[in-house]
Amino acid sequence: MYIIAVTGYKGGVGKTISSIHIARFLSDYGKVLLIDSDPNRSVEKWVKQGDSEPPFKVKNEKSAPAHIVGNDFLILDTPARPDSNELKEISQEANLTILPCIPDAISLDPMLQMFND
Ligand SMILES: Nc1ncnc2c1ncn2[C@@H]1O[C@H](COP(=O)(O)OP(=O)(O)OP(=O)(O)O)[C@@H](O)[C@H]1O
Ligand SMILES: [Mg+2]
Repeated sequence: MYIIAVTGYKGGVGKTISSIHIARFLSDYGKVLLIDSDPNRSVEKWVKQGDSEPPFKVKNEKSAPAHIVGNDFLILDTPARPDSNELKEISQEANLTILPCIPDAISLDPMLQMFND
């Protein structure tokens, strides 16, 4: 199973929308579980707006453990600013960590801070 985490310290930079697009793309290549670990449940809300079921599963961090086995890809959408322990776990477990960033000074600063952490 290939694990992709989409995370970052800055809010509103496109983590959730990137996670959904990546999940949709990878669903042409295997079974995908998208984990919505944001308490705002943004993925769940986005997905409900469509008029058909997405070709990937969406679970939150509480319900996901029972659905992990059997997937080819696991995508994790995190809330902004996961705490440093959570960040450490994410970076150790994920095969790929994606840090979306808007190219302005206000967004780059938290990105640099994240690299240091
Ligand atoms: N490609 C895009 N073009 C235009 N608007 C976009 C695009 N991607 C995302 N947005 C908008 O940008 C906003 C933030 O996107 P998104 O919710 O994915 O960010 P986020 O990093 O997950 O935010 P949060 O930190 O709150 O979880 C949303 O209102 C979304 O509609
Ligand atoms: Mg989000």
